[in-house]
Amino acid sequence: ATTLGASAAQSGRYFGTAVAAYKLSDSVYSTILDREFNMVTPENEMKWDATEPSQNSFNYNSADQIVNHAQSHNQRIRGHALAWHQQQPGWVSGLSGTALRNAMLNHVTQVATHYKGKIYSWDVVNEAFADGSSGARRDSNLQRTGNDWIEAAFRAARAADPGAKLCYNDYNTDGVNAKSTAVYNMVQDFKARGVPIDCVGFQSHINPQSPVTSDYQANLQRFADLGVDVQITELDIEGSGTAQANTYATVVNACLAVARCNGITVWGIRDSDSWRSSGTPLLFDNSGNKKAAYTSTLNAL
Ligand code: XIL
Repeated sequence: ATTLGASAAQSGRYFGTAVAAYKLSDSVYSTILDREFNMVTPENEMKWDATEPSQNSFNYNSADQIVNHAQSHNQRIRGHALAWHQQQPGWVSGLSGTALRNAMLNHVTQVATHYKGKIYSWDVVNEAFADGSSGARRDSNLQRTGNDWIEAAFRAARAADPGAKLCYNDYNTDGVNAKSTAVYNMVQDFKARGVPIDCVGFQSHINPQSPVTSDYQANLQRFADLGVDVQITELDIEGSGTAQANTYATVVNACLAVARCNGITVWGIRDSDSWRSSGTPLLFDNSGNKKAAYTSTLNAL
């Protein structure tokens, strides 16, 4: 096949990108989006600050724009993210304890209900584990409501939208390390106790500080062996030229070697769309031309 989405579909997978609602009117952007991708993740529009700017008052305008665009272009949607310590609206900082727990659960329920039936998979909880060797939960206002906040969020999401796959999503979990092992242990525990979880997202923001390690594929596989799907959810790779192209191919090959790795999402379309303040981490250059990394990705799919 001649596009990323169609090539991924040959093995039953998807190929997605993060999308910003305000860029949909840019025809260079939307032409590539609709030609190449069959999954979209709203880059910011479904986050807590965007969807619930004041408590219990919801605004879905920007997210709905992306959902409507996707639905009319045969693209599925990864919802991102229901519960996260970042990009919270200001009013949340005034809450703690039971009031914060209930506000979080209400948020999960309301947003998942609004999009019921329209979301392929939800990042229910994002980035809840600490970096480094501790294997601990990240300290956050949500964590301080009690260690069971993650399972409470997953149960609320399942009740609101039983048809969506529910994912835990994180970064620096792409190889076998203390952080990924802590997530692994949580998923194993959730499966053993019947807490609803269907998938684990690996952000895969690759740079010299977080390179693709030789155990990337083995790490995906050990999660898949727990009985969850695995998805590469925010891929970008610092660098350029052949080195970058080869690293993209390595990541794609790792996913394709794991039966339950069912899709890959890059975190933006053109280099100029990247959230990174500098660099050229994506598959298209600033003018929308295909890079060597595009070709190696397409060939690997
Ligand atoms: C980033 C967006 O790309 C930026 O536009 C925004 O300013 C900050 O958030 N991990 C995640 C994503 O889960 O939501 C983040 O997205 C990148 C890191």
